Amino acid sequence: SADLLTGITTTGTPHLGNYVGAIRPAIDASKEANKTSYYFLADYHAIIKCQDPERIRRSVVEVAATWLAMGLDTDRSIFYRQTDIPEIPELSWILSCMTSKGLMNRAHAYKASVADNEARGKKDLDKDITMGLFSYPVLMAADILMFNARKVPVGSDQIQHLEMARDIAGRFNNTYGTLFEFPEAVVDEKTAVLAGLDGRKMSKSYNNTIPLFEPEKRLRKLIMKIKTNSLEPEEPKDPATCTLFAIYKAFATPEEVQQLETRYLNGIAWGTVKQELFEYLNELLREPRKIYNELVESPGDMDAILKKGALRAREYATPFLEKIRSAIGIQRL
Ligand code: TYM
Repeated sequence: SADLLTGITTTGTPHLGNYVGAIRPAIDASKEANKTSYYFLADYHAIIKCQDPERIRRSVVEVAATWLAMGLDTDRSIFYRQTDIPEIPELSWILSCMTSKGLMNRAHAYKASVADNEARGKKDLDKDITMGLFSYPVLMAADILMFNARKVPVGSDQIQHLEMARDIAGRFNNTYGTLFEFPEAVVDEKTAVLAGLDGRKMSKSYNNTIPLFEPEKRLRKLIMKIKTNSLEPEEPKDPATCTLFAIYKAFATPEEVQQLETRYLNGIAWGTVKQELFEYLNELLREPRKIYNELVESPGDMDAILKKGALRAREYATPFLEKIRSAIGIQRL
């Protein structure tokens, strides 16, 4: 079973938030001895929000290349696409029958869509909300429970989904006997929610992201765009409420963070912070960016890795799904 498991939805280009919230902790944790880690591209989840096949294809390549460029060791970790594991959607259906509709009614993503319809004055509050969006957390529970994963490194926006996965696992265990472990979210409080350009949570849906591997010039431009207040250069500034500081803190060492904090309190010009943040990130990302660009240019090179990952993942999933099927009274002929 999986000590660690996490996934990234393939709807866009990975950004700093995805990296510090999920990818970095996942890669770090996978380096510990004797840990089995499962990391995957959530491409079935992607089609909930994105119906542009070209964008999906490109995003799968970008997300895969990001993990590899950032140093995922695919001999130690099982790295695969969700869509290459047919056991996952099969389990998802079984779990649907264990999931109360009321639980799904409370899911943040669904509630946000309903609130959006309400704000737009729609009579039908469920207008344009698909069953895919509504049952999103069931598919995510299947991703996790399929491998009996115990620790799931994620940003704090996924905590509710983990609670739901435990809820669903509990209901299954109570009904059919204990087959599932209870998965736990692992959230690093320092990077639980990284802020984006406008100070809100960095998110593809807010259009406020800093993609990890922007070319140098674009990276600089984006960092210059980060919103700050209008304090004069020499005035003392509050690090706690500053997006620039938050991003720096997500990458720098504690000593470096403390030094910058002092300079904030003594008054530092926003232009200086921005330039230094740019230089810091650019230095850090220079090498991985090269690897990333090479991988994205010849994406075929990643096929073998993902295929091998899918085979290894199915070595666990196939017999485990047989056990689950047998527990519910369904046998293959
Ligand atoms: P997704 O693709 O939206 O995001 C991938 C991961 O990045 C984290 N994240 C952030 N962390 C900190 N600050 C931010 N601003 C920020 N933005 C995103 C997310 O919390 C997430 O960990 N449902 C998941 C994908 C998924 C999954 C799974 C995850 C599908 N099945 C099973 C874990 C286990 C999602 O949409 O993440």
